Formats: sequence, structure tokens, C-alpha cells
Amino acid sequence: MTDLDAVLGDAGPTGLKERIAAELAAVRERSLAYTDADDDMLVRQHSPLMSPLVWDLAHVGNYEELWVLREVGGIEPLRPEIDHLYDAFKYPRKDRPSLPLLGPAEARKYISGVRGRVLDVLDQVDLTAPDPLRSGGYVFGLVLQHEHQHDETMLATLQLSRRPGLVRDGELPPGRPAAEPEVYIPAGVFTMGTDAVAWAYDNERPAHRIYLPGYWIDRRPVTNGAYMEFVADGGYRDPRWWLPQGWEWAERNGVEAPLYWTRDGDTWWRVRFGREEPVPPDEPVQHVSWYEADAYARWAGKRLPTEAEWEKACGSRTYPWGEADPGHLGRWANLGHRAARPAPAGAFPDGASPYGVEQLIGDVWEWTDSWFQPYPGYRCFPYEEYSKVFFGETYRVLRGGSWATHPSAVRTTFRNWDYPIRRQIFAGFRCARSEE
Ligand SMILES: [Fe+2]
Repeated sequence: MTDLDAVLGDAGPTGLKERIAAELAAVRERSLAYTDADDDMLVRQHSPLMSPLVWDLAHVGNYEELWVLREVGGIEPLRPEIDHLYDAFKYPRKDRPSLPLLGPAEARKYISGVRGRVLDVLDQVDLTAPDPLRSGGYVFGLVLQHEHQHDETMLATLQLSRRPGLVRDGELPPGRPAAEPEVYIPAGVFTMGTDAVAWAYDNERPAHRIYLPGYWIDRRPVTNGAYMEFVADGGYRDPRWWLPQGWEWAERNGVEAPLYWTRDGDTWWRVRFGREEPVPPDEPVQHVSWYEADAYARWAGKRLPTEAEWEKACGSRTYPWGEADPGHLGRWANLGHRAARPAPAGAFPDGASPYGVEQLIGDVWEWTDSWFQPYPGYRCFPYEEYSKVFFGETYRVLRGGSWATHPSAVRTTFRNWDYPIRRQIFAGFRCARSEE
């Protein structure tokens, strides 16, 4: 089956257009909900690591204008004078509050004007055209995933703001104890990456065969409770567990626990979207840097998995449980902000991979040991600034998506990347070890 047949499915181009229109409406509803706040909240910079929320809001509209209206629709720029303000490569995040950005009301008006024309283009476009941006609606997949990715970024900004009120919470299934904490993945060849997922990014392609020796991988992500043992054992005070750069980073910044954690006597507390609460021991740990994850793994007598090991543990399918779309309230994973936190370890037995590895998708992004590098045969599409400029030994790969990731913006082949010092993202990890 080709990409095109797969994405068109039984409903054909009309059905696909209806699905795209519904997904566009849903993601916009999400972006507007996260920016339904007073102007001060939206224009203020809550951290030098993040843009003001109003920048993200107009940026998603500008990106949609560039790709859908100009590239595919051949429409003249609506506001060419603002393009440079919303070019993510032009100004670093810390400088964005001093730019003459559109104000909240103007930004909402601009993105809704763009969206109206996008729906006209969707109406007209031939989704079976050979052009790779049109074929199977790729360009719409691009802007949909992009907006959801910015929505997750906005959640990280809201968490950094420490202001309560804007982020809803929801119910999650209970955890379960694990009989065997690790899973053995036998030696052998597996297919990494994809040629078949229609809206996959260039960095997930092409599919290629890789041999891995046998290894052990944690059945579930490392929990807060396990991480507390590392802290209690003096993990942050013992350079044996740390890479030199990580040790220096932790010393210089006074890092001695995950971001948002504070200690009161014997109890660890955390701030989550402006609320203080005891740290729940059975949830996967989040808001740790790659350096902290790496140090924990060494302390535990293990290491971080490579991204190939992480992906192989999923069992070479679109999701660890198979091909069924996770949806918002799927029984397989905690995605799409159904709750504003990771689910307890063991909450999704039905989401296990064929090997029995759990919670690979959702809950927390998982740091891996791998640098963000192109796959053999990589071809840049549709532009260099999505992936290509980030390849090298600067960023570490994260896999699997978090509770804040929308189901349409994650799959077993999806690759995320960040600096090894970053902690504001919804990232945790699991450990692996080589066969002895
Ligand atoms: Fe962007």
C-alpha cells in the first residue's frame, strides 16, 4: 500500500478533506484555549527559554500562511511586513518580547483570517496530485502537527509561569505493580523509521534495517519514587554518576532535584500549573535534563537506551499496540492533555508493545542516548530548517511524546530533540542495559 492509499483510506479525498477540516478546527480550539488569558499573561515573557504566548499564537498562523496559502494556494502574502517577526530563526526566544509583535487581539484576527483562506485552499486542492505537498494532504499534516507542537510548547510556558487557572486536569486510570521491571529484547534486525506513515517528517525517513545485539529495557519509565531514591542516595553530590559537562552544569546551576520540586522535611513537593502538591511516587518522573537522566541510569547500573533500542522495543508498528489511532481518550496511552500530568506506572496495560514494554507513547518524552542525526538515505523535505540544521552532536533525541502531545503528532518513529540541559519540557526517561 502506498502512502497515498493509506492516508486516503476508504473515504477517499472527500473524506480526507473532512477529516483535515475537523482536525484544523480542533487544534485551533486548543490554541485559543491556552491563550484565553489577559493580555499581560500573553505578552509577558515567563522565562527567557520561551517566547511570549502571543508569539506562538501568531507564529502558527504565519506558518500556515507560508505553507498552505503561499506555497500551495499561490496566494499573495497577507502581511509580508510581519514575516520576519515570526521566523523562528531570525530572533532568539529571549529577544522576542522586545519585537513589535501583533497584540493578542490582532494576532487572533490575523490567524483567523489565514484560517478562512486555508479552508478555501483545502476545498480546491487535489489531494491525489503527485506534488508531495499536496499528495495525501501532506501540507495540512505539516501545519496540524506544527500547531499541536506549539500548543505543547505553550503548556511548558504556562507551567513555567506558575500561574494557576488555565490548565485543566482530568482522570487517569490507576497504576499497577510490575511483575518484571525489565524486558529482554533478543538480538536481531528490525526496521527503523518509516516510508509508510503518510504525514511522517523527513527525519523519520527512510525506513532502514538495523541489527541490534540483545538488550534489556525498563518495562516502564523511571518513576518519581525511584528517582527519589537516587536523590536520597546523594546522587546529585557524587560526580561518579555524572558526565563532566553534566556535573559542571548541575554545580553551576545548583541543581539537586527535578525542576519544580522542593523538599519539606522528608516530603517532596512539586508545583504543577500553579498548584502545590506532594510528588506522587508512582508517576513517571518529568522535568529532568538529559544529564540527570544519564546520571540516574549510571547510578542504577544501567544506561539510557539508544533511540534504535527504544524504537525496536515498540515492535515495528505505528504505535506499540498496533495501528489503531490513539485518539484523545484511548485506552492505550495518556496523550492529548486528557490530564495535565503523566499517568501512574502500569496505567495502560493494553498499550504495551508485543515485547510487553509499556507506556512508550504518552506520559513523558523519553530521553535517549542518541544524538539527533539523519538516517542513511535522508532527504530533506520540505525545508532545511525543520530537521537538517539541527543534525549533529548538539541535541539529544527524545521519543514517545508526553501527556501534552497530541495523538496526531506522535508515533513510534517520531523523533524530537533538545539540548541536554533542558528541563522545562515534559521529559523523563527509562533505562536499558546490554546483555552480559
Ligand atoms: Fe514553529
